[in-house]
Amino acid sequence: MKKLEIDFGGEKSSVYIGDGLSDSASELFDLKRKVLVVTDRGVPAEYAKKVAEQCADATVAVIPGGESSKTPETAVDLCRRMMNAGFSRRDAVVAVGGGVPGDIAGLAAALYMRGTDFYNIPTTVLSQVDSSIGGKTGVNLDGIKNMIGAFKQPRAVIVDPLLTRTLPKRLAAEGLAEALKMSVTFDADLFSVFENGDPMRRLGEIIERSLGIKADVVSRDEKENGLRRVLNFGHTAGHAIESLGLGYYHGECVALGMTAVCTGELKGRLLRALKNTGLPASAAFDREAALAAMSHDKKSAGDGRVSVIFSDAPGTWREERLGPDGLRRLVYDNFSEAGNTAPGGNSR
Ligand SMILES: NC(=O)c1ccc[n+]([C@@H]2O[C@H](COP(=O)([O-])OP(=O)(O)OC[C@H]3O[C@@H](n4cnc5c(N)ncnc54)[C@H](O)[C@@H]3O)[C@@H](O)[C@H]2O)c1
Repeated sequence: MKKLEIDFGGEKSSVYIGDGLSDSASELFDLKRKVLVVTDRGVPAEYAKKVAEQCADATVAVIPGGESSKTPETAVDLCRRMMNAGFSRRDAVVAVGGGVPGDIAGLAAALYMRGTDFYNIPTTVLSQVDSSIGGKTGVNLDGIKNMIGAFKQPRAVIVDPLLTRTLPKRLAAEGLAEALKMSVTFDADLFSVFENGDPMRRLGEIIERSLGIKADVVSRDEKENGLRRVLNFGHTAGHAIESLGLGYYHGECVALGMTAVCTGELKGRLLRALKNTGLPASAAFDREAALAAMSHDKKSAGDGRVSVIFSDAPGTWREERLGPDGLRRLVYDNFSEAGNTAPGGNSR
């Protein structure tokens, strides 16, 4: 077992990484109390059941799942479940699932009686390499992503790579986009894993290294005032593409977003890495609609300028603040108009 300790100004969050660790949740989390176990319909039911069996008094909440369930109503519903089951502030919430139940359960834990303990057992590649640590929780408002949220650090996280074995291939690949993102900006050696072979064969190593990077970044900048903005690499265009509802998964949108912010010879190398990972490298869509979506970007300082991270070489990054013209160039220079290059799958 590998353990990462993240310190948020004295508040500690422990991350345990290892195959099969979710079987020992009660040894790593304090489950001797009322526990709301939050999962969704697409997560194999035995994962939440196994965790619930290790709790003194568990209530299992199965939310529908998918981005459409990331609403304020779902978070309030979880709070209501806790209230009706007599939870106090000393009880706990455990998320068992991907980024969607993780973000909602984390928010409910932040809100219920002004905050209960929160634990996370991520089950998708994306949530294992990225979303389960760092403390960002949230739901969408009127379709705009993560407009309502809170910083809520999990007391502990169990990252059990074996849980991702039941994921369809495309879902596993899209999760790796966030790890690829971290490699481009912070870790040239990790980037070479993506560039020179099938990254899926080295999943355990990728998860561990990505979590190490994210832990380092978020402990130095918990509230996204500086370094943490680098984790938004690829997300400005990515979120805009995602909001168009073309059928791409979140990680696929980040992959597409990265193609717009890798410059010079790195762009060709990124395209190779995307191909190795099974991620899309080009897209056509309504570019004006994408630009309109970018105006909602929370990284906008309100003056119409948006902070965008670029990379010129693996392991490096630089920040630019783009105004409307810069954003327009970013979109028009890197993507084509409309067409039908959507991957055919339905949006989750
Ligand atoms: N909080 C953060 O820092 C942060 C960072 C990145 C992304 N996010 C958020 O994460 C969300 C996306 O997360 P995600 O990609 O994990 O999606 P998800 O939680 O929707 O999971 C994807 C699908 O996989 C299914 N699933 C989950 N685990 C499974 C397993 N082990 N086997 C089989 N199926 C499984 C789910 O039921 C769902 O249908 C987005 O809402 C995004 O905004 C949050």
